[in-house]
Amino acid sequence: MSNLNKNLSIALRNPFKFYDYARAYFNYKKTVAILTGTSLKEVNNFYHEIFSSHFVAEIIKKSKCRSGFSYLTMLTPFRAPTLYVLCRILKPEVLVETGVAQGFSSAFILYALEVNKKGRLYSIDLPNQPGQEIGNKTGWLIPDSFRKRWELILGPSKEYLPVLLKKLNRIDFFYHDSDHSYENMVFEFDCAWHYLRREGQLLADDITDSLAFDELVRNKNCTFRKLFKMGIACKK
Ligand SMILES: C[S@@+](CC[C@H](N)C(=O)[O-])C[C@H]1O[C@@H](n2cnc3c(N)ncnc32)[C@H](O)[C@@H]1O
Repeated sequence: MSNLNKNLSIALRNPFKFYDYARAYFNYKKTVAILTGTSLKEVNNFYHEIFSSHFVAEIIKKSKCRSGFSYLTMLTPFRAPTLYVLCRILKPEVLVETGVAQGFSSAFILYALEVNKKGRLYSIDLPNQPGQEIGNKTGWLIPDSFRKRWELILGPSKEYLPVLLKKLNRIDFFYHDSDHSYENMVFEFDCAWHYLRREGQLLADDITDSLAFDELVRNKNCTFRKLFKMGIACKK
């Protein structure tokens, strides 16, 4: 069963999850517009820009070549395409992400940086992951032409994230999609929030796995929204 079908069948069996999914699906453009103070028309244009791009067609083609890899869930509008839209609106210069795997999120972020003609993405993932030995190098989906704006750091975020953030000193955008344990999410959010500039954005996938995102937005001065499993917090 594909990830999309799995998510849908979980959502259909659980009315609360189904409600959350439907709410995100019907409101994601309005949510992004409100959070970023951008007009709905402009937000619409950015979503149109990404979905009509050759880039998405290329990503689908490339991911279809690898059997067993499901690209459909990441293409849900309020997942990777929303990363693209937020980066087009915010035009961040220094971005950090944890959790790369095949590189879906990294590729959408890097495409936005290409179109913006500015910005650099620093990504952290573990070395020696299953499948890498047969040539599935971390970030294999990322087009070669985007890699000049990308730096990949291989190692646990617990060790490498503090060092990276200290070196960068200030960041505009942080995306968490690595180990979703409560301890690791709290650790990454605390580190990233300290270096995030005012009006910068912290995003996290799978926020329903623990209470870490809820605690963050309760304790920090920020505006935030949830799009099903994705949380977006803007520092005030
Ligand atoms: C859900 S996948 C990331 C998917 C990716 N963001 C995408 O859109 O294609 C999670 C990734 O986090 C990495 N990871 C897990 N624990 C980690 C840790 N402690 N530090 C850094 N990366 C970690 C895994 O190796 C895996 O590649």
